[in-house]
Amino acid sequence: MISNLTKNKKLLSYVDEAVKLCRPLRVHWCDGSEEEYNHLCEELVKHGTFTELNEKLRPGCYLARSHASDVARVEDRTYICSEKQEDAGPTNNWTDPVEMKKKLKDMFSGCMEGRTMYVIPFSMGPLDSPIHKIGIEITDSGYVVVNMKIMTRMGKKVLDVLGDRTDFIPCMHSIGAPLKAGQKDVPWPCEPDPAKKYIVHFPDEPSIWSYGSGYGGNALLGKKCLALRLASVIARKEGWMAEHMLILSLTSPKDKKYYIAAAFPSACGKTNLAMMQPSLPGWKVKCLGDDIAWMRIGKGGKLYAINPETGFFGVAPGTSMNSNPNAMLSLTKNSIFTNVALTPEGDVWWEDMGVPPPAKAIDWEGKDWTPDCGRKAAHPNSRFTAPAIQCPVLDPDWEKPEGVPISAILVGGRRPSTIPLVNEAFNWEHGVFMGSSAGSETTTAALGKAGVMRRDPFAMLPFCGYHMGDYLAHWLSMAKRTDRANLPKVYFVNWFRKSAEGKWLWPGYGENSRVLKWICDRIEGDVKANPTAIGNLPRLEDFDTDGLNLCCNDMKQLLSVDVEGWKNELNDITQNYEKFGSKLPEALKKELEELKSRLENS
Ligand code: OXD
Ligand code: MN
Repeated sequence: MISNLTKNKKLLSYVDEAVKLCRPLRVHWCDGSEEEYNHLCEELVKHGTFTELNEKLRPGCYLARSHASDVARVEDRTYICSEKQEDAGPTNNWTDPVEMKKKLKDMFSGCMEGRTMYVIPFSMGPLDSPIHKIGIEITDSGYVVVNMKIMTRMGKKVLDVLGDRTDFIPCMHSIGAPLKAGQKDVPWPCEPDPAKKYIVHFPDEPSIWSYGSGYGGNALLGKKCLALRLASVIARKEGWMAEHMLILSLTSPKDKKYYIAAAFPSACGKTNLAMMQPSLPGWKVKCLGDDIAWMRIGKGGKLYAINPETGFFGVAPGTSMNSNPNAMLSLTKNSIFTNVALTPEGDVWWEDMGVPPPAKAIDWEGKDWTPDCGRKAAHPNSRFTAPAIQCPVLDPDWEKPEGVPISAILVGGRRPSTIPLVNEAFNWEHGVFMGSSAGSETTTAALGKAGVMRRDPFAMLPFCGYHMGDYLAHWLSMAKRTDRANLPKVYFVNWFRKSAEGKWLWPGYGENSRVLKWICDRIEGDVKANPTAIGNLPRLEDFDTDGLNLCCNDMKQLLSVDVEGWKNELNDITQNYEKFGSKLPEALKKELEELKSRLENS
């Protein structure tokens, strides 16, 4: 293999091997240029994968419709093939790596016939950051290339930094739809049988092999596969953390800036919080990232975070000028929309976009749609891919190679009952306990039933590349890596509490700034808290409700301990912990016991 972009021997022979295995019609090395991006978008339009949107309404934007079987991450087809099964742990699918590699090689054999093989050099993390990781994604999907261009740093500049280094991570991807001579292609080729899709990680190599899907985290391998599943394994070895977290900065009216990281499961409002417009006067939020944070102990012993991505792959339905104006402003141009509806004017539309539905549209499946047809116009997991630099509130420090110092870590989920609006951990171990026992209702971000409560430690259940018990031990071990006073305070938050009648108790969105304000007050030591059995809750008098139309009872419910609810919670946490067997850290067993006895005495 010859490339005019690199002389890296290991890389050239990796690509050679891939060509021999996949037998593509041609090979294209991605240089990451604008011309290349525009050309590929034009090709995708010609092919029918992309529809160009109205240049006046959404300049530089495209709509893609996926195959109906390929609309979300496939957790049950996702594997961690560590050498020892024990290392994958009870929350991951595991198969012997040798057996799995053989199966994958059979599937990849000839899988790119009739198609172009793209070689995408990409970096997760700024190229000048000490913890950037370089991946080489090999794919037969032009859609993947253009999305990777938005979501990662990619192309020639990555190869220049890589030079002769051999530490790149091979990421093999195929949509699994070879094109025989004379066979007519389809707009979204993929393997339609869910049982034949495979998203496989080999953490000991490390490498990624993904087959059959062209959608989101299944196919954009820098994101969930590299920056979370593999990075979590690498981070543990190297003493840092790869987390499913947004990063924001918050500036107070006194002009003090705080950086906050927050872990919420998929489609639970990370993008909304990351770009929030605070309702409280004088407070400003800026966004550094909306999905992934890599954190390591840095200057002065503080925990520093970087966002390894360069774009937002956000859930469209529910995003509006009301819920997230800054996301809406980020996607006015140069963005890709997948599985939303197309209006007769050539613009996009989705449910709860905050504008009236068009009289007619083409829905995400390409069918005629009217507001009364009884179907949703956009798929519930339809997405926008938008460049971070288009976010009007992007923090100027978002690409700082050393990251930003984190003062508070938030963990949350969708919990209609029991869990208060905000609850401060007593200390680091209690915070890790809170994160370890986080639960949330499932969403449409993954195939499967939505709305079912599941335990999702630190929102990492689908993304932790190793044994969850070891992962929790790694969290605990951060307290040994620095002075405890340097560690961020940990808070459990829940914007999703409902009344007995099923009404939301908390308005959410910009009003969440009230919770952030209380957190800053606590960081400064300006307010006392109410120490309860479950953690430190705000005292009503310290919590800013000025101008908020909430009845006092609702506020009390949001900030009190539901002792009976917590007893059920305890049983469920205990059961969930049993999965981790002997890998459950003693410190967490102790936290559970202490919570039990505090509840009994309350
Ligand atoms: C995502 C997810 O796409 O978590 O970010 O599913
Ligand atoms: Mn996510």
